[in-house]
Amino acid sequence: MDSQPQLKLLVKRDEIAEAVARLASEINRDYEGKHPLLIGVLKGAFVFLADLVRQLDLPVEIDFVRVCSYGSGTVSSGKVRVVQGVKTAIRGRDVLVVEDIVDTGVTTSFVLDYLGKKKPSSLKLCALTAKPARFRVRMPIDYLGFTVPNKFIVGYGLDFNQRFRNLPDMYALEEQ
Ligand code: IMP
Ligand code: MG
Repeated sequence: MDSQPQLKLLVKRDEIAEAVARLASEINRDYEGKHPLLIGVLKGAFVFLADLVRQLDLPVEIDFVRVCSYGSGTVSSGKVRVVQGVKTAIRGRDVLVVEDIVDTGVTTSFVLDYLGKKKPSSLKLCALTAKPARFRVRMPIDYLGFTVPNKFIVGYGLDFNQRFRNLPDMYALEEQ
């Protein structure tokens, strides 16, 4: 049996919902008259994307890309690869990448690069959370929910060794 990690409540569901509502209204305003293609980065972004799209009153399309950067544990391997590419044609589309968290930024910049090569007419980034203390890549986040401290976060889609994605609030994993 695995040892039980200690979780400390960091961001409550109401605060998450407020951030999601604000992001949705910014996106509704900026993409008025357009039909953007939202691309969620699996697996972590699935909860955020599901909540976000239900507040968009735009004719959105949704696709996913799955990339792999982390092995198991909390330390990035630094190497990113595409595990599942996008199926939708990207050329000429207004693409909005939806991320759960920007940590070092390595994964997200890789995804933006991968999609940029497919010649979208615009390419923007919406991230629920970011850890500015850890940024290694300079990259504008067009829509950001909130920043989090330099801790390992779980819940609301984010996992530790594939666990805790189902928690409705966000927690910091405490050092043992
Ligand atoms: P980056 O390449 O260092 O920015 O890491 C990006 C990916 O690592 C994110 O999309 C997450 O899937 C995962 N990740 C980074 N930080 C955390 C965290 O605190 N909790 C859970 N997953 C994380
Ligand atoms: Mg992710």
